[in-house]
Amino acid sequence: MSEFRFPENFVWGAATAAYQIEGAAHDDGRGPSIWDTFSRTPGKVHRGHTGDVACDHYHRYADDVALMSELGLRAYRFSVAWPRIQPDGTGPVNPRGLDFYDRLTDALLDRGIDPIVTLYHWDLPQSLQDRGGWTNRDTAEHLADYAVAVHHRLGDRIRTWTTLNEPWCSAYLGYGNGVHAPGERDAGAAFAAVHHLLLGHGLAARALRAAGARTLGITLNPADVQPADPDSAADRAAVRLVDGLHNRIFLDPLTGAGYPDDVLEHVSRLVAPTFVRDGDEKTIAAPIDLLGVNYYAPTYVAGRPDGAGGGGAYPGTEGAVEFLPPTGPLTDSGWMIEAAGLTRLLERIDRDYPGLPLMITENGGAFPDRAGADGPVVDSDRIAYLDGHLRAAHRAIARGVDLRGYLVWSLLDNFEWAEGYRKRFGIVHVDYLTQRRTPKSSARWYQEVISRNGL
Ligand code: FCB
Repeated sequence: MSEFRFPENFVWGAATAAYQIEGAAHDDGRGPSIWDTFSRTPGKVHRGHTGDVACDHYHRYADDVALMSELGLRAYRFSVAWPRIQPDGTGPVNPRGLDFYDRLTDALLDRGIDPIVTLYHWDLPQSLQDRGGWTNRDTAEHLADYAVAVHHRLGDRIRTWTTLNEPWCSAYLGYGNGVHAPGERDAGAAFAAVHHLLLGHGLAARALRAAGARTLGITLNPADVQPADPDSAADRAAVRLVDGLHNRIFLDPLTGAGYPDDVLEHVSRLVAPTFVRDGDEKTIAAPIDLLGVNYYAPTYVAGRPDGAGGGGAYPGTEGAVEFLPPTGPLTDSGWMIEAAGLTRLLERIDRDYPGLPLMITENGGAFPDRAGADGPVVDSDRIAYLDGHLRAAHRAIARGVDLRGYLVWSLLDNFEWAEGYRKRFGIVHVDYLTQRRTPKSSARWYQEVISRNGL
């Protein structure tokens, strides 16, 4: 009998994203995405790594699905590459691109693995970026057209549809501090991108619903923002500001409350929010059935009334907020390991946005593991991380949070965006020279967790 048993029908799975694993960058009519361009821009990605080959999953998907089945996964979250479906971002659909996801979906269903689709995991067609990308309102409409095209082909077999992955990253890292594609650095662009991403989500959700999609959602990376000193009013004010720019700016409009006044006030000090038009907030509030939560680490902040704060990826926090350097045990990404943050985050979302079923759509860690001569990678630190976070998730469930599932990030080691291939998040090791897959100890451990439905 497990000590930590999860609810019946709890969904156990793993997640990946198209650009991070597929490779086959030029196959079957795929057009270029902003990540193809960005990874070719000197100095943007570690050692100039690109997703050209990645894990070659495009050609090896059948073996990868067999591996998922061996591990006992019940669900697999993958993303569809928009540039495979509409190489120019708009206009005619490329059937060969859809064929790939058709084959993948059937392979999953054949093995009894539930496919969970993310429509947009950051790989915007480059031609849309040439027209302004997410700073252009038209991109939101194009997302909805693309969503319908994918649903038209796969809607008879796929139940769960997620519009966007982590729009916070797309907007703030892509258009604010330039760490991600397309690499712009402009506060106004970042906020315009936030709004157009949300609008695109709403338009796509509405169109998918009309087309008959059953379970609709969006995945955010909501932050567990904590004060350096809970007794400091300045630190609590910093929490409120960062929480607004990270969490409430997305969750409030998604759940029908519109943008919070304090957030709009902050945005207005940096840019006139003329991109928000009448009716947009209603569109963004299209009903959803599931909120995907990606959690890795907590965020600790301090208020700096003296104006000496370093600020973070949040436009307008420069001077005012200090983001504390992570302490204690860290992952290979330098991220703080604090499982309690996951419990706090899930409880907070449940309290402030009640009635929204949640799923952990990503959680995991990069650890510097190596393949043994021929044996499995022994990644005890990853097992400890996952174990701690599953206990934290269990605690939230025990306290009444409606948590439907857990998807580990990631099935495979893969292209970790600006970090290239140097950060390994997989429960399965990938040898990039041979493309050989080797389940790490964590994969075997996870297999056991799934089979017991608990720890
Ligand atoms: C998330 C991304 C995912 C992966 C993990 C480590 O922000 O959604 O693609 O890179 O971080």
